[in-house]
Amino acid sequence: HSLIKRRTAQDIQARKSGEPIVSLTAYTAAMAGIVDEVADFILVGDSLGMVVYGLDSTVPVTLEMMILHGQAVMRATRQALIVVDMPFGSYEESREQALRSAARILKETGCGAVKLEGGARMADTIRFLVERGVPVMGHVGLTPQAVNTLGGFKAQGRSKVEWPAILADAEAVAQAGAFAMVVEAVAEPLAVQITEGVAIPTIGIGASMACDGQILVLDDMLGLTGRVPKFVKTYGNLAAEVRRAVSTYAEEVKARRFPGQEHVYALKAE
Ligand code: KIV
Ligand code: NA
Repeated sequence: HSLIKRRTAQDIQARKSGEPIVSLTAYTAAMAGIVDEVADFILVGDSLGMVVYGLDSTVPVTLEMMILHGQAVMRATRQALIVVDMPFGSYEESREQALRSAARILKETGCGAVKLEGGARMADTIRFLVERGVPVMGHVGLTPQAVNTLGGFKAQGRSKVEWPAILADAEAVAQAGAFAMVVEAVAEPLAVQITEGVAIPTIGIGASMACDGQILVLDDMLGLTGRVPKFVKTYGNLAAEVRRAVSTYAEEVKARRFPGQEHVYALKAE
């Protein structure tokens, strides 16, 4: 148990152009414990706002929500690096605000890194955090916290005029000292350029095979969410399995077939 050393941000960074990095999100203890068996890192993503809390976007997610789920995931895992998302509004105002929020996340969850969205505009903040002991994962391309200025969740860089800005974002994040970066929903040839252009691993979600690793939202790939983006491959159909289980239970309760004798307490022998 304690002989297994948890992966670090440096371990992930060292995987540039190496064996593909395996990652998924997780938000709860039960799921995190299973994902921990296969993942190099687990992201406690602010996607939990939509996936767990039924919100329309990640914008309303709070630092308190991220810390509570980060704690649950940390308790249930022992080998994966745990990365916790910084939620909208907890880091954009200033480098100092970002450090205060990141310090709360590291101190209160014990996780090994934080992730924040944005490229060139966040470079000073990323450098400030890294120089003060906070490993930072970047996130470029589609940045869902900006849904209200982007006008929806749309793939980025599908016309070449968008490329210079996105490439500059990726370069700025790498130069600022991030140990890796998520590249979300970008055209394949742009993902190739980003991955070839930066010295740190790129973790793709909707960003093709070109990236140094892949991540998916766990509930999406398990078939637990309704409508999923084009880039999601569903590896399971848990919604159907849950539906089967709860409807069987409902039938058995109504028919008085559950609980059976094996689920009932008898009197102790006196
Ligand atoms: O919140 C999240 O799940 C993410 C991944 C999609 C990268 O940021
Ligand atoms: Na996120």
